[in-house]
Amino acid sequence: MIWAVVPAAGSGLRMRADRPKQYLPLAGKTVIQHSIERLLSNQNIRGVVVAVAAEDGWWPHLQWSAGDRIHRVEGGAERSDSVCNALQWLSGTADDQDWVLVHDAARPCLRAADLQSLIESLQEDAVGGILAAPVSDTIKRADAKQKIAETVDRSVLWRALTPQMFRLGVLRAALEQIKADGVAVTDDAEAVEYLKLQPCLIEGAVTNIKVTHPGDLLLAEEIILRELEER
Ligand code: C5P
Repeated sequence: MIWAVVPAAGSGLRMRADRPKQYLPLAGKTVIQHSIERLLSNQNIRGVVVAVAAEDGWWPHLQWSAGDRIHRVEGGAERSDSVCNALQWLSGTADDQDWVLVHDAARPCLRAADLQSLIESLQEDAVGGILAAPVSDTIKRADAKQKIAETVDRSVLWRALTPQMFRLGVLRAALEQIKADGVAVTDDAEAVEYLKLQPCLIEGAVTNIKVTHPGDLLLAEEIILRELEER
């Protein structure tokens, strides 16, 4: 069984908008609607658990948010807390061996083929893994004075994208462990790595961007419209 979790409880301050970035309009829908629809259009995914901030006044007004494959839980202070709350809800419904795909609400351009490739590639894996893209720019490490300290070997570097796919029991244990140890992580794989497990990197399209800064919305619109044209 495969489930999806969508952390959507961030405030999106870097977007400098009048609302959290997941509710901004994008190609006729909201950002989060694209992200969730792309998950739900994969028939292997049984349901989506969305973590929404307690004070969020936007979510209840989205007509489609009452769909029967969509469940709402309360978000937390950090992204990992939001994911934890969703896993808690799933634990009452799903098996520890079930797969969970965690996908940022702010990634509306996930390709159906990448989602399917992630699921198929990892189905038999012991740990799980993430969509990722090889780094194409030359990467510099900075010193304290913002001068170049070194050029890093980019041939082994990847950018972590979402979805990130792990078994429910493993991911819950990993997130509980980092919380207990006071470790901050920026994605789910980092929590699993903390348990000394090695998630796989599955190559996905670089167009699976995270809407973070104002310019990203234009780029996301361009990507989605181009995709529609190609159909
Ligand atoms: O802030 P950032 O873009 O890294 O957030 C990634 C995703 O995690 C977003 O979809 C955001 O809504 C979500 N998030 C959350 N709970 C938080 C912080 C972020 O669900 N406390």
